[in-house]
Amino acid sequence: MDELINQAADDLAGARHVVALTGAGISVESGIAPFRGKGGLWEKYDPMEVAHIDAFMRDPGRVWSLLVKDMKVTLDTASPNDGHKGLAKLEEMGILSTVITQNIDGLHQAAGNTDVIEFHGSFARQRCMDCNQKYDTREVDISEIPPRCRCGGILRPDAVFFGEMIPQDAMWRSQQAASDCDLMLVVGTSAVVQPAALMPVYAKQSGAKIIEINPEKTPLTLDISDYLIMGQAGEVMNRIIMQMENK
Ligand code: OAD
Repeated sequence: MDELINQAADDLAGARHVVALTGAGISVESGIAPFRGKGGLWEKYDPMEVAHIDAFMRDPGRVWSLLVKDMKVTLDTASPNDGHKGLAKLEEMGILSTVITQNIDGLHQAAGNTDVIEFHGSFARQRCMDCNQKYDTREVDISEIPPRCRCGGILRPDAVFFGEMIPQDAMWRSQQAASDCDLMLVVGTSAVVQPAALMPVYAKQSGAKIIEINPEKTPLTLDISDYLIMGQAGEVMNRIIMQMENK
């Protein structure tokens, strides 16, 4: 691994425009379960039952009880780990410009990144399905499920369920960022959910170098990524930053 850490430090230092694409894996070290793989949410739940818009529309209370309530409890107190902090440090060093994240946990912003594209929306807010009023998730009272707006409407996360469109602005800005970068860091994503997993493909097609950080191989590893640094996001980011600071 040492050689790849060294290589990543050199590649980052030499890049002109760096963008990161992140997924649930970067938040695992913050105590947030990923979706797929060991300990993943989809081992416990069928995503079509708890994360599809049709399931939510059919029975919002059930989806709140099965998944959204627990998510609120976890995310209300989660804090950034060394993986998020490493990306924030790269921005501070003037190296990283934009983070495209599939995560809805707000931890990149909490770590200090200032240009974060929330590809699947955000859990920081809940919105009323009737009047669209938005609420800070931390302030939503969940003593009754599903929680309701002052107008009586049911609240839903301001995030993308399966079966819903990607917010247009996030889609457009992500494609733009992917096509403009000369290095993309792909951290903690299984790269199986579209269209997010296309961003490294756009970057590659535009000539960018792709560096993956993940304890496992993904569908990108073989022909899209230039190399995979196999490890946990926090540890790998710490080692890359340390190497860059020592040069
Ligand atoms: P997944 O749960 O599919 O994948 C998590 C990835 O993180 C896997 O490739 C793991 O190997 C890796 N991983 C685990 N621990 C890690 C660690 N400590 N450091 C780095 N990587 C680690 O999550 P996503 O790819 O984000 O969409 O999933 C994409 C989308 O599927 C989500 O945004 C969500 C989900 O269904 C919606 O809900 C619309």
